[in-house]
Amino acid sequence: MDASSPPTRRLVVMGSTGSIGVNTLKVVEHLNAARPNGQPQVKIVGLAAGRSVKQLVEQAKRFNAPAVAISDPDQAKALKQALPKARICVGPDAALELAEHCDATDIAAAIVGSAGLPATLTAIRKGMTIGLANKETLVAAGPLVTPLLAKHNAKVIPVDSEHSAIFQCLAGQTGGKTGDAVKRIVLTASGGPFRTADKQAMYNATVEQALNHPTWNMGPKITVDSATMMNKALEIIEAHWLFGLPPEKIDVIIHPQSIVHSFVEFADNSVLAQMGPPDMKTPIQYALMYPDRPQGCSRAMDWTTLSTLEFEQPDHDKFRSLKLAYRVIEAGGTSGAIFNAANEAAVAAFLDRKVSLGRIVELVAEALERIEPMPADSLESVLEADRQARAFVTERLKA
Ligand SMILES: NC(=O)c1ccc[n+]([C@@H]2O[C@H](COP(=O)([O-])OP(=O)(O)OC[C@H]3O[C@@H](n4cnc5c(N)ncnc54)[C@H](OP(=O)(O)O)[C@@H]3O)[C@@H](O)[C@H]2O)c1
Repeated sequence: MDASSPPTRRLVVMGSTGSIGVNTLKVVEHLNAARPNGQPQVKIVGLAAGRSVKQLVEQAKRFNAPAVAISDPDQAKALKQALPKARICVGPDAALELAEHCDATDIAAAIVGSAGLPATLTAIRKGMTIGLANKETLVAAGPLVTPLLAKHNAKVIPVDSEHSAIFQCLAGQTGGKTGDAVKRIVLTASGGPFRTADKQAMYNATVEQALNHPTWNMGPKITVDSATMMNKALEIIEAHWLFGLPPEKIDVIIHPQSIVHSFVEFADNSVLAQMGPPDMKTPIQYALMYPDRPQGCSRAMDWTTLSTLEFEQPDHDKFRSLKLAYRVIEAGGTSGAIFNAANEAAVAAFLDRKVSLGRIVELVAEALERIEPMPADSLESVLEADRQARAFVTERLKA
């Protein structure tokens, strides 16, 4: 390695078989191929998945990963046979174990849902740099995660495109800080597949209709979250914890083209936005290489075909999820964990065709009303709130 080369990042990818995980590995391949002196910029030191064992094995071989984790215990034998030299972690705590034992400087937190929380907390305790796609971590455990980041000198670089946009707008202006210089941030939302549908049609939408996102290609849970705009509600809470902003400084606007990824309005009325085609490889690479900006492998803007950028106010009567997010921030404690887990359980029930799309937000609102939030002062208290909310939704589904 020549003296000017930055040290190779040692990356563990949590959720490597999902939409963000696969895109992260594409970015790593691109960065390493583009390296002029032949040194890899990013070395994969661990991969974790839920149950997609074949895909995990293929990835481990392709990247020569020394350690892998899978949460489904039934896949242990297949994994051990296929990767005899790798360290293998299996079972519900496999990702956490991988985070504990792998020799990583960076983690791509791309497990879906609160299942990603324990491994991310471990990465924080180890002082790693976290490329955070798993927004549910901050929603469920913001009060726990934020002080730990400072204590262990760990860094979070957001991967969610909206938060990456805000992070980029703030980085050059206020050194990443908010405070009086920031009047408000505005998160853009595509409006999902039901932006122009009437309320009743949206309430009774099929799984196929809900999964038909107009601009982004993502995993099923976040795609359903986008259809209910729960995704934007989760992002409001995520932004609150990431940027230390009070709820009144966080707004949402519908932007159907998904080109402007979010913007910051400053006290002097200047507005800075970050733009680009809807391709997650851009924020993934930014998070991986921050503060550098090497050549990207995502789609580039085609200014010859772009003619319109539209913005409209969200319909709060149709998308009731947005108001719930502000309530969660005000309530504090474990209300984020209740909100998130009730949503996860309700989305799973919708994908299993056990409830209508419209019932998801109703179930989440009921869980918030019925379950008392507690201080979110330990992982146990967050997991207990998560358990209560899932049990509540299960009970309501039986009624
Ligand atoms: N997709 C996007 O464009 C996008 C954009 C912004 C933010 N995000 C956020 O990124 C996260 C991932 O989203 P996604 O769309 O990539 O989801 P996805 O395609 O459904 O992938 C989820 C990943 O998590 C793994 N997984 C699930 N449970 C696990 C467990 N207990 N232990 C280890 N791995 C587990 C899955 O493994 P198996 O496949 O083997 O089950 C898969 O690799 C979510 O928090 C989402 O909100 C996604």
